[in-house]
Amino acid sequence: MGEIIFMSENREHWGSTWGFIMAAAGSAIGLGNIWRFPFITGMNGGGAFVLVYLGCMLLIGLPVMLAEFAMGRASQSDPIGAFQYFRKGSDTISKCFAGGGILLAALIAVFSQNYGLASIVALIALAVYRWGFTVVGFFCSLVAMLILSYYAVIGGWTLLYTYEAFAGNLNFSDPAAAGKAFGKMATNGWLCTAGMLTYMFICAFVCFAGVKKGVEFASKVLMPLLFVLVLVLVVRSVTLPGAGKGIEFFLKPDFSKITEKSVLDALGHAFYSLSLGMGILITYGSYLPRNRNILSSAVSIAVFDTLLAMLAGLAIFPAVFAMGGSPSQGPSLIFQVLPITFNAIPGSLGWLWNGFFFILLAIAALTSGISLLECGVATVMQHLKISRQKAVIGLTVVISVFALLSCWSVGDWSNMPVLEKVLNGVLGSVKGNFLDELDYICSCWILPLDGLLIAVFVGWIWGVGKCSQELYRRGGSMPLTLEKGSAFRNKLNMQLPVRVWSLFVRFIAPILTLITFLYAAGLVKF
Ligand code: PHE
Repeated sequence: MGEIIFMSENREHWGSTWGFIMAAAGSAIGLGNIWRFPFITGMNGGGAFVLVYLGCMLLIGLPVMLAEFAMGRASQSDPIGAFQYFRKGSDTISKCFAGGGILLAALIAVFSQNYGLASIVALIALAVYRWGFTVVGFFCSLVAMLILSYYAVIGGWTLLYTYEAFAGNLNFSDPAAAGKAFGKMATNGWLCTAGMLTYMFICAFVCFAGVKKGVEFASKVLMPLLFVLVLVLVVRSVTLPGAGKGIEFFLKPDFSKITEKSVLDALGHAFYSLSLGMGILITYGSYLPRNRNILSSAVSIAVFDTLLAMLAGLAIFPAVFAMGGSPSQGPSLIFQVLPITFNAIPGSLGWLWNGFFFILLAIAALTSGISLLECGVATVMQHLKISRQKAVIGLTVVISVFALLSCWSVGDWSNMPVLEKVLNGVLGSVKGNFLDELDYICSCWILPLDGLLIAVFVGWIWGVGKCSQELYRRGGSMPLTLEKGSAFRNKLNMQLPVRVWSLFVRFIAPILTLITFLYAAGLVKF
């Protein structure tokens, strides 16, 4: 590894830095920005929560994001390949981690008596003992596929609602009718399946065309469109009479509502929103040529992500307040409250505002889905040594079949009693449907765990020194690792941003994500 390593000849690369930024922003900007962020902000003290969230993005999200990009670019590999590439010297630390995992499993078993979960953690620990950190790469790709299986169902709903909006069918004026219409769609297994398959087909079509002609091209067209649509909606929303109350609800800081839990919510959301811990950014980083600046691209991606979340809040809350709706509707906010809100806007253009909003949502969901699929495609192509086309078709079929479980379980478990029993056994008690449970397992458990392991891996095994050289690299001919004491390395290590970044990657990010994880496990309470 000490010698000069050139870009692998046959790997596809982004055509431009702008294309890369748009693709990564497309992955980051998703349902989380448009639905989840405004909603949790409203509940957690408005502007005060936004400040905490910005802090989490800057201090934890950005360092981990840089770590993922650097891992991808240095190894020019998918997540599994990336961990294999840096494997040297990781044995002792991974064995310590395996030991820690067994301890954690025992703690979960003793304190929360959730033996299913304890066995899963123990199995993961044994896998880490056997295969070292390569297991983390495997989990990254696996979780991306699992997330896609339910994200595709919600993506399907956004496509169905876009159609309904333009067809003028979202013309209800009271919450009961809106709720009934949504319930009718979500519990109609055949309709959800059709929506999900259409969504998967579009994602597959884009990935099929390749990195530059597919993912990059689609992102360069769709992302600017997304910003235009959200701006149109913001202008409509904030100019409504009575919009001021909504702006106040969303943005006025109320520090009394900030608790330890809000900090953890903010941290968890920062991970989810930047698409961290899934290997997507490792994959996208691996398509970066050596001469592109990672640092400034990562900052732009985080800025775009936050900007869109803020704009979405400004499109939603002023309209909801101006039209007399209630902001605390939870999951139903976008599918039920918003259509009524937009219909109530004077001028009978409700179908147009609804149409714009659901296209916005559909685009956001599609670009995220594309990144999830691309992560799996890169992994399968590299490890099964098959062509991109075969990988795309194979994965799309497997994920679509798995997604049927989410499609058919929404609203009613009676379709699959066996699955409910199995999940009950593993999780202790099943509260929501399969889709909710999968979302809970992936975003509250696996993502912070993966994020923690990536930070530990980069901070302690690959090493912040080598990683920061990758971040500052500006050309193909620079050696991957520099001799200790070399002038460039000394100069680099002196730089304040590098020193601050290493502090966060080595200590603060792992400790805070560990706390988030233990909190999700119920082992730490506030
Ligand atoms: N970052 C996306 C969002 O904000 C969610 C996402 C998670 C996308 C995982 C891809 C992968 O909605």
